[in-house]
Amino acid sequence: MADEKLTMETLVALCKSRGLIYPGSEIYGGMANSWDYGPLGVILKNNIKQAWWKMFVQERLDMVGLDAALIMNPKVWQASGHLATFTDPLVECKNCHERYRADEIDLTAACAKCGTKDSLTEPASFNLMFKTFVGPKEEAESVAYLRPETAQAIFVDWPLVMNSARRRVPFGVAQIGKAFRNEITPGNFIFRTREFEQMEIEYFVKPDAWEAAFEDWLKRLHEWVEFCGLDSEKVYDLEVPPEELAHYSKRTVDIEFDFPFGRKELYGLAYRTDFDLRSHMEASGKDLRFTDPQTGEKYLPHVIEPSLGVDRTFLAMLVSAYTVEEARTADGETEPRVVMKFPKALAPIKVAILPLSKKDELTSVAKPLAERLAKKWSVDYDETQSIGKRYRRQDEIGTPYCVTVDFDSLNDQAVTVRDRDSMEQERVNLAELEEYLSAKF
Ligand code: GAP
Repeated sequence: MADEKLTMETLVALCKSRGLIYPGSEIYGGMANSWDYGPLGVILKNNIKQAWWKMFVQERLDMVGLDAALIMNPKVWQASGHLATFTDPLVECKNCHERYRADEIDLTAACAKCGTKDSLTEPASFNLMFKTFVGPKEEAESVAYLRPETAQAIFVDWPLVMNSARRRVPFGVAQIGKAFRNEITPGNFIFRTREFEQMEIEYFVKPDAWEAAFEDWLKRLHEWVEFCGLDSEKVYDLEVPPEELAHYSKRTVDIEFDFPFGRKELYGLAYRTDFDLRSHMEASGKDLRFTDPQTGEKYLPHVIEPSLGVDRTFLAMLVSAYTVEEARTADGETEPRVVMKFPKALAPIKVAILPLSKKDELTSVAKPLAERLAKKWSVDYDETQSIGKRYRRQDEIGTPYCVTVDFDSLNDQAVTVRDRDSMEQERVNLAELEEYLSAKF
């Protein structure tokens, strides 16, 4: 059963000690709200991205992919409306200069940091895009921006993709990559950071087909949520009220998740109309319309956009997977067992090979076995500490199967396979181990 009392402190500590996520630049005192994905974190993150790509690009004949530049022509951000409207309302305490998002606090209250009353400035619009200079001269002509969303490259490249991939509406373009936002209030671990990864789809449809496509994508997003093992009792749809819609959206449903710090946006599904293609057509002077090959009709397709954060997926998976159980020890006592019950297909390590002793007789069997299995799955090889401690470590990183090589293995050519969730152990012939494990994933 998932632990009701899971705190962010517990999660952050577990991620650090087990190599999932570390505080960024730690030896220099850290860097606020910057996080590094460690040896296991990078595998889990890659597994999320690969599974998303397989589900939404590889397995669908109406989808193709893209991997565009992060720094685009600044005209893109002018046309998309980001330069003018991608802002948050900022207020500052006149006394201690702490900054807040005006829409997240009570503007009549005292400053939360220094306690001064009536000290907050009037809200001012703060553009969230990171500005930089391209080339050696820091002058107006060389200003560029780090992309605040992956979506725009899909709109800009749309005619190239459509023609080279020979696709007809309806079809979609997917992209995974980093996005950057100079957030006023980053925080809550990897929930809101200034650099993060998105998995986005722009799905192009005939203007009158948007409603059916929207409902279909909402269903697909829930299938994805289930695939990631997210606790269904923590997942909600929020119909975003018209006054809160982004400048490009006519309808948005946020998929929200109950994080330990409250219910927050996990993903967004937006109906972007033809806002982006129309804006880029007007700004670039290029005809971005699609010509229906059957009727010859020319039109700008409308767009449904499922937009997912990789890091928020990771965090929601951590929260959903974290489980504490009472487990029986070898001497008949019980003790709490922390298990990350990741879906087996997404777990960072699939199989751990654990020789019961460090003696050559066992490691000479166990190590080649680990090398053989590593050609198929991500494998951990661990020969130090007691077997109980090693099982506990593997449970905490969510390894579905632990394979123990013991002295009997030398005679019966078999190993013990322990299941993470049931803790049941089964003796399996070495010759049949790969087949046995293949059937599990
Ligand atoms: N292209 C549309 C778009 O970017 P968004 O709601 O601003 O929409 C989409 O962002 C998703 O990206 C969010 O639902 C969230 O999962 C993720 N995201 C946005 N800002 C983030 C941040 N500062 N840190 C981590 N993830 C973020």
